Amino acid sequence: MGKKKKRTVSEAEVEEKTEPELLGPKNEEEELVNGEPHKIQKHRKEKKKKKEKNENEAIEIPTVSIAVPGSIIDNAQSLELATRLAGQIARAATIFRIDEVVVFDNKSFPVEGLNTASNDISDEDESGAAFLIRILRYLETPQYLRKALFHWHNSLKFVGLLPPLDAPHHLRKHEWGPYREGVTLKERASNSVGSLVDVGLSKPVVVDQILEPGKRFTVVMGANRNLDTDLPHQVVSSSKPREEAGNYWGYRVRYAHNMSSVLKDCTYKGGYDHLIGTSEHGEIINSSDLTIPSFRHLLIAFGGLAGLEECVEEDNNLKGNNVRDVFHSYLNTCPSQGSRTIRTEEAIFISLQYFREPINRALFSKSTAP
Ligand SMILES: C[S@@+](CC[C@H](N)C(=O)[O-])C[C@H]1O[C@@H](n2cnc3c(N)ncnc32)[C@H](O)[C@@H]1O
Repeated sequence: MGKKKKRTVSEAEVEEKTEPELLGPKNEEEELVNGEPHKIQKHRKEKKKKKEKNENEAIEIPTVSIAVPGSIIDNAQSLELATRLAGQIARAATIFRIDEVVVFDNKSFPVEGLNTASNDISDEDESGAAFLIRILRYLETPQYLRKALFHWHNSLKFVGLLPPLDAPHHLRKHEWGPYREGVTLKERASNSVGSLVDVGLSKPVVVDQILEPGKRFTVVMGANRNLDTDLPHQVVSSSKPREEAGNYWGYRVRYAHNMSSVLKDCTYKGGYDHLIGTSEHGEIINSSDLTIPSFRHLLIAFGGLAGLEECVEEDNNLKGNNVRDVFHSYLNTCPSQGSRTIRTEEAIFISLQYFREPINRALFSKSTAP
């Protein structure tokens, strides 16, 4: 085998330089003397655009959403059982690293206020969807932030009985992590310009911006564990821990007033690009034989008592569509079931385990694609 030629520093540097830089200094006059100002500028612009595009592409991580009907709560016989049911969905979403839970209704018009960041839905006699949204959001919030972010509501009465999600962003007081979720405080630090944020440690930290009090943010903690320093911490998007460190950082919860709103009001850029419906009437494919195409935003939908077929039939915007027209695939994830019915909360666990390996294959094929 021939010896590889050792690259000198200057060769490597030359390779890394952009073409316009190699053409000479970025000096308008010289570019004009060379007679190619427009060409060079165009080239530079294209290069910049390409770089920006690559950066955007680099940070877009694929997401998996589940859609769950709020009506499953209406069928629970007591507040305690409804709470346990909501808790099971939160546990399933966390165990299987779900990015978004869409809670859907079967209404012609949306219920106001369910998609606001505030958890202050004050309706005492709330619908199943509103109840499920509240419990899912409450459980996803780190324990040390709940008091600041949630007002007392009767539907939270039994939430203390639920097993915690124990997600990576639910850090305990003695634990240190590169990121922490925090809530902004009203008080300001005396010797700093930024806001104070309670990140669940013995002291609040200062951040590098002035932020509205009472809001949740993701704070970069870094490696310096000294809380007495006035050095401000950075506030980042909640997707950063996932992008940078691959940490699961909880799910977000969205309300959709019907099935068509689940699909068309997707908040991810470009919408869901692969849709899967689940049903005992679905196609039977072994999990190991199932191919999910490479995706950016995958949605897996679950139905209520009467299944997804009814959700589609009763949706005026989907009238005339068969459930198989709505989803790219419609699958039975638990063939030869012994019980006549599999409840939605059971189907979520069964199905997410069934989809786990095909999803990983789809993600892997994306990451190794040329
Ligand atoms: C009580 S079941 C509804 C039963 C309904 N006949 C149906 O379409 O499956 C509630 C939900 O659980 C899920 N489910 C139940 N059995 C399933 C199965 N064998 N495979 C996949 N999903 C199932 C579906 O999402 C379904 O809408």
